[in-house]
Amino acid sequence: MSIVRRVRFRYPQNTDPMWTPRRPEFACAANSVSLLMPSIEPYFVRVTRRALPYLDPARKGETERFIGQEAQHFGQHQVFNRLLLARYPGLKPIDRTAQRLFRLLERRSLLFNLGFVAALETIAYSAARWAARYRRELFDGADDIPATLFLWHLAEEVEHKAAAHDVYRNYRERMNGAGNRGYSGGLFTARFAATVMLAVVIVAGFVVAGTTVTLAYERRLWHPVAWIRLTRWAMTFAFEMLTNLTLSVLPGFHPEQLVDPLWYEVWMAEFDPETETVPVLSDVEPAAAE
Ligand SMILES: [Fe+2]
Ligand SMILES: [Fe+2]
Repeated sequence: MSIVRRVRFRYPQNTDPMWTPRRPEFACAANSVSLLMPSIEPYFVRVTRRALPYLDPARKGETERFIGQEAQHFGQHQVFNRLLLARYPGLKPIDRTAQRLFRLLERRSLLFNLGFVAALETIAYSAARWAARYRRELFDGADDIPATLFLWHLAEEVEHKAAAHDVYRNYRERMNGAGNRGYSGGLFTARFAATVMLAVVIVAGFVVAGTTVTLAYERRLWHPVAWIRLTRWAMTFAFEMLTNLTLSVLPGFHPEQLVDPLWYEVWMAEFDPETETVPVLSDVEPAAAE
């Protein structure tokens, strides 16, 4: 069961947007993901709210907690993104394009949009599994505040991994049960597979654009080491993501069948509801000497 935690992050004035100094390219890529959050996550909230009246009443509690977690995420990314947009004004057109695109997508059917949200949530879950596996390499020596923002977000993506999938499937079943056509069978699976591919293309496009702009500002665009690292991360992440997305299209799949990384659960168990804080990364995993 998901829990809505109101964690607040405050950034000192001297916060460096290259918050992973040992792997600055990772900050470039992660920041481009952060830039997307205030476009994508309000979209999740709006689309899922539209589905609420059609869902099985038993689903509503977890669906509302999922909405609550996403609302917390984008609010906190918005605060962090102010730093990014001030340092890298070239990201502003990407931010505006993402805002417009997700508004445009919303004009399509509710079924399409719920499938799109489910696909994006599988991508988010894959990012969490991938980051847990590579966390020492990616986060060692990182600035605690942004590192904790990302890890808190990823931990909650693991926690609510089934929510969007359940909303999508439940909405489809109810529409199908009401005699609507196109909500079951091979055509439905083919449409969902196409939606999944579109989600991958859109996310990859924005992340590549944001990372390239940031690398250029940081004068790392022509740095071979940066591209070697980014290529290796992209390939390992693509393997994780494409496996999970392929499984998600198969009939009978449920996200609960995927094995979660335990690291987040152990870390989130330390959440203090009184102060609404999670432990900072350096308290949990001190950086290795380099
Ligand atoms: Fe989120
Ligand atoms: Fe999510």
